[in-house]
Amino acid sequence: MSKQDAEKIERKGKKSREMYNEIDLDKIDINEGPPTEEPARQYYYMAKCREWVKAFEQKNGRMPKACVVNMGCQMNARDSEKLRGVLELIGYGQTESEDADFVIYNTCTVRENANNKVYGKLGALSTFKKKNPEMKIALCGCMMQEPGVVEKIRTSYRFVDLVFGTHNIYKFAELLFYAYESERMITDIWEDTDQIVEELPIERKYFFKSGVNIMFGCNNFCSYCIVPYVRGRERSRKPEDIVREIQKLTEDGVVEIMLLGQNVNSYGKNLEAPVTFAELLQKIEQIDGVKRIRFMTSHPKDLSDDLIDVMKRSKKICRHLHLPLQSGSTEILKEMNRHYTKEQYLELVDKIRGAVPDIALTTDIIVGFPGETEEDFLETMDVVRQVQFDSAFTFIYSRRTGTPAAAKENQVPKEIVRDRFDRLLEEVQKIGAKKAMRYSGKTEEVLVEEVNRQDDKLVTGRLSNNSVVHLPGDRSMIGKLVKVRLKECRGFYYLGEVLAE
Ligand code: 5AD
Ligand code: SF4
Repeated sequence: MSKQDAEKIERKGKKSREMYNEIDLDKIDINEGPPTEEPARQYYYMAKCREWVKAFEQKNGRMPKACVVNMGCQMNARDSEKLRGVLELIGYGQTESEDADFVIYNTCTVRENANNKVYGKLGALSTFKKKNPEMKIALCGCMMQEPGVVEKIRTSYRFVDLVFGTHNIYKFAELLFYAYESERMITDIWEDTDQIVEELPIERKYFFKSGVNIMFGCNNFCSYCIVPYVRGRERSRKPEDIVREIQKLTEDGVVEIMLLGQNVNSYGKNLEAPVTFAELLQKIEQIDGVKRIRFMTSHPKDLSDDLIDVMKRSKKICRHLHLPLQSGSTEILKEMNRHYTKEQYLELVDKIRGAVPDIALTTDIIVGFPGETEEDFLETMDVVRQVQFDSAFTFIYSRRTGTPAAAKENQVPKEIVRDRFDRLLEEVQKIGAKKAMRYSGKTEEVLVEEVNRQDDKLVTGRLSNNSVVHLPGDRSMIGKLVKVRLKECRGFYYLGEVLAE
């Protein structure tokens, strides 16, 4: 093995931190007051927290361990990487065990059961804290933005040390410092913000792929959805900031980028110099090191012809589109405030498939929205059969207090919803299994992501269309794009063999 290869493998064994935005904390003067501008202020507080960590190490003879639990979507996952970035920089080791010195739940609140899960898990954490009184517990993310939640935590979960929301996550270091200093629970929840703080440390899970936020918040107010209330109004990052971040990521070994936003198709509308999502994609396509571009999530009402054209011509945009349907009934779509009809959705799908014939389409569907009749449900089944989605996330409607749909009186009885849900799931899975077969025998490019968890003689990767492939290999292949013959399809994944690198 050449020295170069050995170095590469060693790098791959390491976790990836976005080094470019790291600052030497020891050079920050913490005896002065904190700077007012960001992100300098947060680095100042990281330096202060570092002192606390050093004292912990001296006292206990070991480094403190932190556990960051991500409970939500890809946006939350990216936020969790930001939390890990701060913790790592101030000197915490990372662990997956919640029996740790610092535990933070980055919560989701899209459906009610997500909230219940948090309350359940907090019970278990209190036992760990009794055993380890120095343990700190923090809660952040979407659920904390919901009215009533913080009150409930204050009264029933008093052992929690720190609670903050989605708008001030960039202040994590500052809040953590106050949590160290205070005996009482620190809570800081903002209603909204127009601030986007760049250049804070981020600890990436994979060295070869990364999410990149292009916008925050959502302005759509789908009538069932709590996201616009907890994530605030839509704010786009400037294209030059996004491009700079991606350029630096590629210098750090990243080849696949996932552009993140609640509704990426309306990217750029609120910028001083407006830019469309299609234009942003073209800029990103030109960055040399980028080999694959994905994005999430698209709203059918905003998906432009320009975007379809850019996807058609692109060599880097992956052949996968997640296009939430939510319902196939025009009546229900109207009640959901989705701004498209069944026919418009189907036309859009035709247009996309006309331009990119081999594209994989995936979707989100909600069953049991208030007022949904059997006929409405059959319209959804009809769209599912017509479109032939590669896969679909199916959800039972969850009544979220504060959303317009929650106030509707015509809620659908549970048994009926369950029955529809089961029928939908069966159909979705049947179609998904059939669609998965279509690449059998073909040769496709696979980005190798990890050593197979069950069999370490195999590695696992993904096709451009997001299908999972297992193939013989070792960890030196992680992060590489390899040509693979897809020998066999086993339900939802392929077994493949490498042809050439
Ligand atoms: N009930 C059920 N599913 C929901 N989603 C959003 N809000 C709700 C709700 N109240 C689903 C939508 C969305 C996905 C992320 O979660 O399908 O696309
Ligand atoms: Fe919720 Fe609709 Fe915004 Fe998606 S587009 S986050 S479903 S309000």
